This record gives sequence, C-alpha cells and structure tokens, in this order.
Amino acid sequence: MKPLIAGNWKMHGLLADRKEITALVEMVKQPGKPDCDIVLCLPFTLLFPAMKYLAETPISLGAQDCHWDEFGAHTGDISAAMISEAGCDYVIVGHSERRSGHGAHGERSQAISQKAKVALAHGMMPIICIGESLDEREAGKAESQVLDQLKKSLPKEVPADRISIAYEPIWAIGTGLTAGAAEIGEMHGVIRHALVETLGRQGEKVRILYGGSVKPGNAAEILGIDNVNGALVGGASLKAEDFYGIIKAAG
Ligand code: 13P
Repeated sequence: MKPLIAGNWKMHGLLADRKEITALVEMVKQPGKPDCDIVLCLPFTLLFPAMKYLAETPISLGAQDCHWDEFGAHTGDISAAMISEAGCDYVIVGHSERRSGHGAHGERSQAISQKAKVALAHGMMPIICIGESLDEREAGKAESQVLDQLKKSLPKEVPADRISIAYEPIWAIGTGLTAGAAEIGEMHGVIRHALVETLGRQGEKVRILYGGSVKPGNAAEILGIDNVNGALVGGASLKAEDFYGIIKAAG
C-alpha cells in the first residue's frame, strides 16, 4: 500500500509562509522522491493561493474540516463544495481538536461520518481521525474508545481506497510524546481487524495513518510498524525541511 504523508498546519500559516510550500515543492521535485502520496492540509485562507503553487506537483491540497450540510445558515463554517472548488483532494474530519469541547466544537462521531460522506460526494478523500485521551488509556479504555469512534465515524458506503483513518492518541499530540512502537502496532492491528470485520477484504485497503509528535527523527521507525500506512503530521509539517525529512522516511 502506498503510504500517505499528510501535513496538518492547524491554525498556523499566513501568506508569508507560502515560502515553505514552494520550498517543499522544490524538494519533492528532486530525483528520487519517495513513492508516497503527500498532502498539505492548510488553513482555509491559504487554499486558493496554494492551489496555484501545488498544481502539477506531486503534492495534493487538503482542508482541515468541512460541514456535513451542502450549504445553509451555518455562520463561520465551510462546505465540501467550497473546499473542493479551492482545489482540495483531501479533508481531515473528526480531529480531536474538533471533537473536544474545549475548542467549543464538541463534534460527535455521527456528525463526522456525515462530513466524510459529503466529502466523498464531492470527490474528496476524507482522513477520519480517532484516538483516545490519556484518562481513557489509563482507565484501560483506549481500545473500546477508538473502536467506538471508528464504528460511528465511518460513512455507510465506504470506498476503501478513498478513505484513510488517522489514529492520533490525544496525549501524543503536540506534546513530544509518541506512543511506543508496541502500542502503535497493537492499536493499528485492532483498527485493521475492525475494518476487515466491517468491510470484508476491502478493509485491507484502507490506509491507517499514525499521528502524534511524528518528527523526522522518529518517522522511519513509526512508518515501519505493521499496519501503519502513513502519518498525519502537525508541528513538523510547518517547515519544509522537517516535513520532507518525514516524507523521505516513507520511501
Ligand atoms: P503534532 O504532530 O504536532 O503532534 O500534531 C499531530 C496532529 O494532531 C496532526 O493532526
């Protein structure tokens, strides 16, 4: 399975940061680019400008969220049609920073499955995020929480080669802590098993990404773990050189 290396810029990036995008384009143009898919999920304001820089390059454009409705009275939200028009091939849905009540979003898995559905209907590939909190892990509930989110966040019709699952343990996001190789392998195995149970053989085709403090220094080890088919990268995707270091590790 071709790995997917996805960068999530979160609420970072002004027009001046386009230099990181153009630098990354130059890096991936060099001979010997690793055989992986690459996507940059940028803030909404950078989508239209980035569409120009990324056209005809091996880097796809992605957004970080979309609404589940086609259009309507949803102040401050954005629709799948809008991000698709801005050049997106991918969209992250259900990130823990949107599931959490702290950011005032409090998104539930049922809404996330609707977002994935509308993204697919607009020809985009959703990256569906799931992951447990530290409290849930310490209470021995990591697996059940992840499986519950997975089951409820999947849309009804799943074209297996057009969706990715990102397992992001919340306690590993932006903390510098990564889950250990054994923990990652175990959870990715559990997710794979559940996907095959739900989708049959098609479940083998769904890419399962790991996210949470992935850096150039730990990417090769993480990407070498069974059932890890890519990475969802926050902080280390902001600088072209760091992100390219992770891309190289996928090759
Ligand atoms: P960090 O790589 O900064 O830990 O962020 C992970 C993440 O949340 C990606 O979506």
